[in-house]
Amino acid sequence: MLSGKRILLIIGGGIAAYKSLDLIRRLQERGAAVTPVLTRGGEQFVTPLAVSALAGAAVHRDLFDLTVEAEMGHIQLSRSADLVVVAPATADLMGKMANGLADDLASTLLLATDTPVLAAPAMNLRMWLHPATQRNRAALAADGVRFVGPNEGDMACGEFGPGRMAEPLEIVAAIETALGGGPLAGRRVLVTSGPTHEPIDPVRYIANRSSGAQGTAIAGALAGLGADVVFVTGPAEVPPPAGVQVVAVETAAQMAEAVRAALPVDAGVFAAAVADWRVASASDRKLKKTRDGIPALEFAENPDILKTVARMTEGRPGLVVGFAAETDDVVAHATAKRARKGCDWIVANDVSPATGIMGGSENAVVLITADGVEDWPRMSKAEVAQRLAARIASALGG
Ligand code: CTP
Repeated sequence: MLSGKRILLIIGGGIAAYKSLDLIRRLQERGAAVTPVLTRGGEQFVTPLAVSALAGAAVHRDLFDLTVEAEMGHIQLSRSADLVVVAPATADLMGKMANGLADDLASTLLLATDTPVLAAPAMNLRMWLHPATQRNRAALAADGVRFVGPNEGDMACGEFGPGRMAEPLEIVAAIETALGGGPLAGRRVLVTSGPTHEPIDPVRYIANRSSGAQGTAIAGALAGLGADVVFVTGPAEVPPPAGVQVVAVETAAQMAEAVRAALPVDAGVFAAAVADWRVASASDRKLKKTRDGIPALEFAENPDILKTVARMTEGRPGLVVGFAAETDDVVAHATAKRARKGCDWIVANDVSPATGIMGGSENAVVLITADGVEDWPRMSKAEVAQRLAARIASALGG
């Protein structure tokens, strides 16, 4: 039941918009209140009058609507719902959402909202299968947007394939799941991400080339499946995803402490590129070449965070996932690493400069579990994240 739930329904410009009229009725039958937003394209397929009459509420259409601005404003409109549903989510709307554009009411609401978003894509199959749309879909999923459909079938344009909008009742079911939480609802998951910085003196540090992109995408995808995510991140190049609890740290020692404080969790994903050593002789004042000459740095070993958690005898997370960044003999090194660390899975990748993976947007990983080695094709980091999050959900019984 959706009794008392407030749904902001954004109707994009596609022939599937007619199904959104039925969706409004189905939602109302279940007790939900629907606030409709119609894009300019949407108006070509269903009339504002029909939408408003069915919803029993005014339909919002303009970004610069003075009456609405005076009453509540579009920022408020974007946040006063329990869930934002985009149906149909056209290729254009998805592109705007994925890239943060805000040139009309619908896209502005989607950028301004802090409410979970569910999208029901609908478009021609070639448009759906186009790499640009698939990139957008993966990026949105990594941002925590949920999807229902599209389904395969005959299309209004006469072709057959994926691209049909999910049926109204399927969308209702997805809305119920989204409001009830998704497969990882009630699960607490820890993700470490980014590099660590190990100080030499107050102005200098030792670091590595991790951008934090893969860990960030994984945290976003897990949150998208309803998990309660604690995101412990070193100084990354990419901003943290929406909808997670962010714990920002700098050094490996701080990361180890933040991880300890985040336990217990149902699963831990250790995607951070933790520095193995810190400067034992770090100075609390700036080293001066005139006074100090060439410094001889002494190193001390950092705590191995993954190994510590994976080898816990009490309160160990049900699933511990480590990463292995290698430059040669990837599978052999990663298999040995899995045993050495005591983790359940290792996600291994080749980070030699020629692969362009470190700092890039794509990844080619090998997943090593107790059952063996799985080679995943090269795909975007967002897609790797989604696939891994789905695997974690099924491993946790979601
Ligand atoms: N890791 C960690 N704490 C450390 C070092 C690594 O938690 N002090 C975790 C990483 O987050 C990653 C995994 O261990 O999940 C493997 O990291 P990697 O740097 O590839 O391995 P190392 O332990 O450094 O092993 P090696 O030096 O042999 O590559």
